Amino acid sequence: GTKLIIDTDPGVDDAFAIALAALSEDVDLLGVTTVYGNVSLESTTRNALRVLQLCGRADVPVAAGASRPLIHPQPFRAAHVHGADGLSGRSGSLPEPDREPEPGGAVRLMVSLLEAAEEPVTLVPIGPLTNIALLLAAHPEVREKIGRIVVMGGGLAHGNTTAAAEFNIWSDPEAARRVLVEEDLPRVLVPLDLTYRCAVDTAWLAKLAGTGPVGAGLEALTPDYLASYRKTLGWDGIALHDAVAVAEAINPGILRTEALPLEVECSFGPGRGATLVDRRRAAVRNEDRSGSAVEVATDTDLDGLRDFVLARLT
Ligand code: BDR
Ligand code: CA
Repeated sequence: GTKLIIDTDPGVDDAFAIALAALSEDVDLLGVTTVYGNVSLESTTRNALRVLQLCGRADVPVAAGASRPLIHPQPFRAAHVHGADGLSGRSGSLPEPDREPEPGGAVRLMVSLLEAAEEPVTLVPIGPLTNIALLLAAHPEVREKIGRIVVMGGGLAHGNTTAAAEFNIWSDPEAARRVLVEEDLPRVLVPLDLTYRCAVDTAWLAKLAGTGPVGAGLEALTPDYLASYRKTLGWDGIALHDAVAVAEAINPGILRTEALPLEVECSFGPGRGATLVDRRRAAVRNEDRSGSAVEVATDTDLDGLRDFVLARLT
């Protein structure tokens, strides 16, 4: 099956994304690496271990990575969206992990998994891109083992953290630039524009909760996240951003993509962290386009995607 490494900052939607890969029988989830992001590295690591425990997948190695961005001394957090512990204050409802993370850290784990891989591996970063940037900078030799990088991040029409920037890119724009612009590995970017459209409502969540202990365990993590969507967007539902990226990673082609030249804004002005795609057409010769060609996910069969995720989580 498809070989995956997920790099994550759980996070309610990260929890769904990890479970989606962990429970898919045709997927070989080689490892889960953690990064600061929605909450502190300590909490994201603990949450990743707990979610895998819930899924009966304590066999998947977990390793902790960066606790802060490459340049900014202070990480930006999203506890106001995901709850103080990153899981709506409900992380205690998950089974206590019966193990510790791997001692060598995230980059070490990714290197050893990639070195050992006999087939190309898909990397799925669903948090700030710090760990992936460090991996590519320090161990360029493992690039040949990477088949694709499927990133949840960016917003073409607007951000969610600032007017211009989406949270994962905003958290570490220099790392995002390293991965999304300065690399030429095959990459898919799954931006907010699409993930918001894939949102699930409370009826979908209720259906999930009825499927068994794992579904119920995931649904139990949603109250604060739901409340934040209700308050800020007036929705009776939530976007499972990161699960949309994992769906593409495990079922290539489930998202429709468009190859677009991409830039990441790293200046310290109001545009910091923006993902800028060059959509100019006839007026511009190809060689005048700047940026790196990335497959940007722009559309999908929305109900088909929701059914796919629900079926896999069951
Ligand atoms: C991204 O930011 C985080 O809060 C989510 O987990 C997702 O990875 C969405 O902007
Ligand atoms: Ca995330």
